[in-house]
Parts: sequence; C-alpha cells; structure tokens
Amino acid sequence: MKKTTFKFKDFFRLLDQVHPKYWQLVVGTLLGSLGTLSGLIVPKMTGNLINTFRHISPGLVIGMIVLIVAGLIAGMFSGLVLGYFGQDVISKMRRLLWQKLLNLPVTYYDNSKTGEISSRLVNDTSQINNLLANTLPSAVTAVLQFIGSLVIMLTMDWQMTLIIVVAVPLITLLMLPIMAQSRKIGKILQDKLASLNSNSTTVLGEIRLVKASNGEETELTSGNADIKKLYDVGVKQAFINSLTSPIINMAMIILVVSILGYGVYRVMTGSMRMGDLVSFLMYLFQIMTPVIVVSQFFNELSRTSGATERISEILQEKEENKGTDLIVDISGKTLKVQDLTFSYEEGSPVLHGINFEAKPNTVVAFAGPSGGGKSTLFSMIERFYEPDSGQILIGNHDVSLIDLDNWRRQIGLVGQNSAVMPGTIRENLLYGLDSEVGEEQIWEALKMAYADGFIKEMEHGLETQIGERGVKLSGGQRQRIAIARAFLRNPKILMLDEATASLDSESEAMVQKALGKLMKNRTTLVIAHRLSTIVDANQIYFIDHGTVSDYGTHEELIHSTPLYAEYVRNQFKGIK
Ligand SMILES: Nc1ncnc2c1ncn2[C@@H]1O[C@H](COP(=O)(O)OP(=O)(O)OP(=O)(O)O)[C@@H](O)[C@H]1O
Ligand SMILES: [Mg+2]
Repeated sequence: MKKTTFKFKDFFRLLDQVHPKYWQLVVGTLLGSLGTLSGLIVPKMTGNLINTFRHISPGLVIGMIVLIVAGLIAGMFSGLVLGYFGQDVISKMRRLLWQKLLNLPVTYYDNSKTGEISSRLVNDTSQINNLLANTLPSAVTAVLQFIGSLVIMLTMDWQMTLIIVVAVPLITLLMLPIMAQSRKIGKILQDKLASLNSNSTTVLGEIRLVKASNGEETELTSGNADIKKLYDVGVKQAFINSLTSPIINMAMIILVVSILGYGVYRVMTGSMRMGDLVSFLMYLFQIMTPVIVVSQFFNELSRTSGATERISEILQEKEENKGTDLIVDISGKTLKVQDLTFSYEEGSPVLHGINFEAKPNTVVAFAGPSGGGKSTLFSMIERFYEPDSGQILIGNHDVSLIDLDNWRRQIGLVGQNSAVMPGTIRENLLYGLDSEVGEEQIWEALKMAYADGFIKEMEHGLETQIGERGVKLSGGQRQRIAIARAFLRNPKILMLDEATASLDSESEAMVQKALGKLMKNRTTLVIAHRLSTIVDANQIYFIDHGTVSDYGTHEELIHSTPLYAEYVRNQFKGIK
C-alpha cells in the first residue's frame, strides 16, 4: 500500500486558494484552550476542597462553579466559531471545485468515472473540513492539556509524577502497533466502500441493460463479493477496536491502582494530603486523553493527505480553451475546415487531413460508414476537443480564438443520442437559454418539431417530468424535444447528427419539413444515414476512416465514387 505522508505545504497551498478566515481558527482554538485551562484548574481546586473539608470556604466553591461554567461557555463558543470556520472553508472549496469541474474539457470526462469525481466534491472536502475544524483544534488543546497537567503535577509531587511519566509512554508504546493496524484497516475500509458505491451506481444506472441481458446473477455475485470484502474488513476492524479499549482500560487500572496504592501509603505516612491524591488521580485522566487525541490526529492527517492530493489534482487540471475576448457575429460567414487532424488517443488519429467548406445558408451533408469520424468532426466544431493540427475558420477568424461562450451560443447541435436533463419538458426546452421566451414561441417551436401533439396529450403538458436520462419519453419524443430546443436556440450554424434516426417515417417526414424551414437563413451541417436527408444537400462529403474520400452533389458522387455508390445502394436496401 502506498504510504501517505502528510505534506503541510500542499495542504496549505490548497487552503490558501479559498482564503480561509484564519482568525476564526485562532479565536476558536484560543477559546478551546480557555476551556481546557479551566479543566486544568478544577482538579487542583477539588483537591483543596477535600483538604479543607472541615471548614470549606464559600469563596472556593463559588470560584469553582464560576470556573466550570466559564469553561463550558468557552468550549461552546469555541465549537461555534470553529464550526463557522470549517463550513466557510468547505463551501468555498466546493464552489471552487464545482466551477473547475464545469470548466474542464470533455476529454477529462472521457477518461474518468463520474462517481469518483463527485466523491471528491462531496467526501474529500468534508475530510478537509473535519481536520481543520475538529481534529486540528482538539489536537492543539490536547497538547496544552498534556503539558498543563504535567506541569501542575510536577509542582504538586514530582515523585508521583515520575511514575506517570514513565508509565504513559509505555502504554503508548503498547498501543502503537494496534493503532497502526487500525489506521491501515480504516483506509482499506474506505477504499472498499468507495468501490461498492461506484459499482452499485453504475449497475443501477443501467438497470434495463442488466435485466434485458439477464445480468442479475452476475451483478449479484460481484456485488456480494464487494459486500463480503467489506464484511471481512469490518470484522477485522471490530476485532481491533475490541482490543483497544480493554488494553487501555487495563493499563489505566494498573496505573490507577499503583498510584492509589502509593498515594494511600503516602497519605497514611502523612507525607501527602488526601485532597492532593484525588486531584492527582484526576490529572492522570487529563494526561491520558491527549495521548489518544493526538494519535487520532495523525490518523486524520494521513486520511486528509489523500483528500488533499485528489482535490489538488483536479484543481491543477487544464481547463477548456476559452479562446480570446474576440466576439464575432458568424452569420453570413463561410465555415471552413482546413487540414484538420485529431486523435482521441495519441498516435491513432481518428480524423486526418479533413478539408471542407460550408458556404453561408447552405446545407452540407456528411455520409459514410459507421465509425468513420462524422460525429467526431461535429465535436471538433463544438470545440469539445482541440485539433492536433489544422484549423477551423469562420470567415477569416480562427474559431479557436473566438470567445468560447460567444461561439457556442451561435451554433446548435442536435446530437446522436438526444441528450436531455432530468426535470420537466419546459426546463429542457429552455435549458441554457438566456433570453426570455414566451409561451407562444415555445409552442411554435414544438409544433415545428412535431412535438406539440404528444405533449398536449400528457396530463401535465410542459410540466411533465421526463425522468433521469429522459426514460419516461420514447426515443422519438426525446429526439423531437431536442430538435425543438434547437429551434428555440435559433443558432446560426445548425448541426444535426442523425437527428431524425429514431422517428417513424410519418413524423420524420414532418420533422424533415420543419428542419427544412429551420435550415433557411442559416448554415446547416447534417449527418445522415438516410438518403432522403442528403440527396437535397448542396454538398455531400463522404467520410471514411477519418478522411474525406470525395465530395460533390449526390449526382456527382454516384458517378465519381464507387464507395459512395455502394453505400447508397446498401442504404436503399435497408429502406426497402
Ligand atoms: N470519446 C472518445 N474517445 C476515444 N475514441 C472515440 C471517442 N469517440 C469516438 N471514438 C472513436 O472515434 C472513431 C470515430 O467515431 P465517431 O463517433 O466520430 O464515428 P461516426 O462516423 O459518427 O460513426 P456513426 O455513424 O456510427 O455515428 C471511432 O472509431 C470511435 O471508436
Ligand atoms: Mg456518429
């Protein structure tokens, strides 16, 4: 297992990014120390009280009560201030992370598990809060308590203190291997929990696939294996925990009994007063707890160092290239792709040397075999990925220099899988729009997308909840909502990636008509397997294995490109 050593430098570098209100930490710890201080004086006063049992001074009693109450109040305010401090840090850190996550490029998400990323946002930040607001201050007060008790005991009776000073490290030594083991198991337990969490989320998210493929048996076995591992680790942890307290208790009893024995002997021989013995025993407990608290502090440190590392890792990731401040109105400009080469993974380009041109207000179609790179090309235009080489130009501007927000606002993509957000139909239609959209406009868009019919039939109309990933809609309904959303966005370049693939032929014909309307006065790029969509295009680019093998109108390509002719023949066969 990788040993995680805590690096204060990394931790504080991370903290500095959220500008913690350190004064709150200081005030909280000081207040906590005041509480501890009162706790230190109380045993001494108890001793005095016992020593003067026959003629108790009311002043002493009142003083003690005041001290105890003051200590409690100081402790309460300390908790309050530290709570504020920790919550402030954690919420700022979460905001920072959330903003970062939303600005990371698509590539980052291609290569990570969403479950793990959200765990950083939720769990790792809590871990940091825990160290800062709980463990760190209590470790500070624990050290204070330890030193304070020790000093007071020394001034009271150095011989008895000596016994304790020898015994405490002995007990600690005894506990060290157990604590190391417990730390190790704690880490394993955390890992196993995270794994169960992430695996179950994945499986439950694809429950239809699981059921349709009779995967329950497999998932049951693999889930049970995870649960069994957790059980094993949990039992081990219980075993170790069960050892810890008896050992501590036994050591304490031995210590208390020997001190008591020695103390009683001293009291009987008259070299010690009864009250002093009692306060001594009270200090004994005061000196033991800090040892435990400090050892827990080290546990906590090693846990936090993992969290720090994971959060810092995300914060150091490269963000999406936002371009420059350049704002360009792209209407009436030609979209041109020059020598574009791109690879998802280094060394195996998916697109190479792509060239194409889309004159304003024309329809450019892309056709070609599956896996050829058509959707990838659209992703490049969306600037989800950056080209390895080559350029995308709009008019004379390199697209990568245009302000990203400005660019994406002017283009629209209806994707292959008609992505939707959980929520209502209305929320989905208006998603990301910053202008006010009237009820009439919405229905007009829905009508054009041939989606008004089924929405009107729904009991809750536009307020219908569509479920996670839109499971409560049919594929065709989802697609029509995606198209309606594109209508509302009113983009200057419209990209349709098989936008009508899951519609029946009647609604497809209607949507095609609507798209025909939508295509007016804007540049449209379409990817289509269906011939009807591409025959009318001004220009067809045939994309195969990441290159443009040929382009022209349908008529031209049929004659010039045998591959295209064959492709078309096959498509016709498919329709028949
Ligand atoms: N996010 C990704 N990471 C790595 N490789 C990818 C990714 N997306 C696609 N690919 C690969 O890139 C190639 C092109 O995929 P792309 O989706 O662009 O094809 P396509 O032409 O749209 O195919 P289809 O007609 O089936 O939709 C494929 O070989 C695919 O495996
Ligand atoms: Mg595709």
